[in-house]
Amino acid sequence: MKALILSGGHGTRLRPLTYSQQKQLIPVANKPILFYAIEDVIEAGVKEIGIIVGPNKEQVIETVGSKDWNAKIEFIYQGEPKGLAHAILVAEEFLGNDKFVMYLGDNILKNGIVEHMEKFKALSPNSPNSLILLTEVENPQQFGVAELDKNGRVKRLVEKPRIPPSNYALVGIYFFEPVIIEACKNIKPSWRNELEITDAIQWLIENGYRVEASIVKGWWKDTGKPEDILEANRLVLDEVNHNVKGEIANSEVRGRVVINEDTIIRNSIVKGPCIIGEETTIENSYIGPYTSVGRGCRILSSEIEDSIVMDYAEIVNAGRIVDSLIGRNVKIMKSDSLPKSRRFVIGDTSQVWL
Ligand code: G1P
Repeated sequence: MKALILSGGHGTRLRPLTYSQQKQLIPVANKPILFYAIEDVIEAGVKEIGIIVGPNKEQVIETVGSKDWNAKIEFIYQGEPKGLAHAILVAEEFLGNDKFVMYLGDNILKNGIVEHMEKFKALSPNSPNSLILLTEVENPQQFGVAELDKNGRVKRLVEKPRIPPSNYALVGIYFFEPVIIEACKNIKPSWRNELEITDAIQWLIENGYRVEASIVKGWWKDTGKPEDILEANRLVLDEVNHNVKGEIANSEVRGRVVINEDTIIRNSIVKGPCIIGEETTIENSYIGPYTSVGRGCRILSSEIEDSIVMDYAEIVNAGRIVDSLIGRNVKIMKSDSLPKSRRFVIGDTSQVWL
């Protein structure tokens, strides 16, 4: 069993951050989103992982390479992001004749994939040709949607339907037998000019192959938009364990808070759940619930809540910042300090003078 993790694409809905960062590398609770996928497939016992890389391939290779993984990782370049089924075709040589799990690198799943992997394997020897993960959503129009028969078997799949046949969205995690490669070769590009994985699975159904579904319990997030990343950050932070290593001086640290080494919190209030990376300084400030602050940041005389502050950002005298995504090396400065709330999505290395 192999894994194919997708970490390409332009991430247009996350601009300006994605002008300089590959979207799957944006941190949630101070960890690149992509790492959650890698950890999940390794936890499910996969030893050979192919990662599809695109425009920022060097960044992905470097970030993944900065850690030791208990698996063999190969990077596969997809010249143009022409769809999820196209990614499978690009990976044909890597996949060979093995079964595999395909995991979209911008998806985060609370409970991982162990249970679904077991289900896929348990259905052997007449294993299904594909097992897809589904979850009920309120906005199925924005996803691939499955129609199930009364036995729970998949009858039909449609990509982003105007009139959805059900509320069951396709989670971006799929288990396949090698026949999916033939399916990907037999479909035509969609209206958005992509080879859709949804169409390839529909091809399996139409050609008499067996497609089963596994319903996801617990939360799932596709982190395509800023608000989804902030929601994923809240969901992950909700599960952190209290662990304070830095130096706390004349400050109040309340709730479940992670503070890493060589970080200084002075004359401040930190209210969990939140995480603060290494070598960060927080002075005369308030860090509110559901905030992740990266490494090497400086937050002085400011309030920040429900936000992600990426590595080496400096926020000085900035009033109150909420619901924000602040890129790496960003500087936000203010000359006086009128307490007003602000929301930002700021790309890396920007400067904002309030
Ligand atoms: C893709 C799939 C869609 C699936 C979604 C899950 O959509 O095409 O079927 O529901 O991922 O994240 P995209 O993110 O390409 O719009």
